[in-house]
Amino acid sequence: KKVVLAYSGGLDTSIIVKWLQENYQCEVVTFTADIGQGEEVEPARAKALAMGIKPENIYINDLREEFVRDFVFPMFRANTVYEGEYLLGTSIARPLIAKRLVEIANEAGADAISHGATGKGNDQVRFELGAYALKPGVKVIAPWREWTMGSRDSLMAYAEQHNIPVDFKKAGKKSPYSMDANLLHISYEGGILEEPWAEAEEDMWRWSVSPETAPDQATYIELTYKQGDPVALNGQSLSPAEMLTILNKLGGENGIGRLDLVENRYVGMKSRGCYETPGGTIMLKAHRAIESITLDREVAHLKDSLMPKYAEMIYNGYWWSPERQMLQTLIDHSQQYVNGVVRLKLYKGNVIVAGRQSDDSLFDTKIATFDEDGGAYNQKDAEGFIKLNALRMRIAANKGR
Ligand code: ARG
Ligand code: SIN
Repeated sequence: KKVVLAYSGGLDTSIIVKWLQENYQCEVVTFTADIGQGEEVEPARAKALAMGIKPENIYINDLREEFVRDFVFPMFRANTVYEGEYLLGTSIARPLIAKRLVEIANEAGADAISHGATGKGNDQVRFELGAYALKPGVKVIAPWREWTMGSRDSLMAYAEQHNIPVDFKKAGKKSPYSMDANLLHISYEGGILEEPWAEAEEDMWRWSVSPETAPDQATYIELTYKQGDPVALNGQSLSPAEMLTILNKLGGENGIGRLDLVENRYVGMKSRGCYETPGGTIMLKAHRAIESITLDREVAHLKDSLMPKYAEMIYNGYWWSPERQMLQTLIDHSQQYVNGVVRLKLYKGNVIVAGRQSDDSLFDTKIATFDEDGGAYNQKDAEGFIKLNALRMRIAANKGR
């Protein structure tokens, strides 16, 4: 029996390795991915080896390009925002991890997968819905829902008892927050954030300066869009992961993308989280700007009306569902003319659109102008348009309503 574990190399998932070996007497396959979390992934190999994982059972993959190209960019074509604010940084990474867990299970001949998400959160749902959708007969082992260790202290005691190498613990410098990072965002939960009234400490934030200390001079950038995706920055072509990496840097330097939110988890509880999504915040603004000149009004409005539903599907873990794939097809179809350039000003926490242009623009100066339009638009046509639209209201008013 073999189980594939999503292994970060940190203390919690190292404990899970031991726990699986002990409680399931199974061969553990570890999977560690670089999705832009900003930590080296190679050290996970030595740690896995030290716990008796066979070399051929250690998988370490750089998934940064796939993550941005096949998950982040498609989501941003829909301008997705959960509960009006959250850019879904963690939510969008889970379906990729689920997919890779299943691929590795198939390759290594494993019948089970395991992860380090707790039984209280969204992540367990996202991993497992994805795994079941892609490998219907898969067995899922979620140690946090099985073992009795509830606190940090009991985890530490377990690590002590099982000789989990000391350098895994780094107990001294352990962050007080539960964090999750990838190329799209970094999140913070727990610690003092569990009191919704308490303001996050300034030194919690890792990716951005505060708007107050951001430069007094604005940074201008130009983003080129092709079929709804940003493909060049200031005229220079960039791969998806390169693009997001550099936008994160530019956004972070200008205090862009911080969020403090109480959100509704799928399992029913409210939870407070802080997020930094500098590049994503820039992309959302820029994408809406290029759509503003290239999309038909009804297409844009219909797309916007579906957006909250789409965000909910991603948040709740339904990336690999038929309804999500149906919506993506519709969204992708809407993007065929979403081409052009957006000029943006980054300034003290703000992303300000300074200009937009496109060969596929539907903006017609001749029609829109306040000056002489040379007959491009007949103002007389508006009279009947308004009168017919008023008809039912006039009938009702005549009836005294
Ligand atoms: N609340 C966010 C979400 O549900 C972030 C979750 C962070 N996950 C974590 N393992 N720390 O998408
Ligand atoms: C967890 O519970 O593992 C993290 C938080 C979440 O998944 O929502």
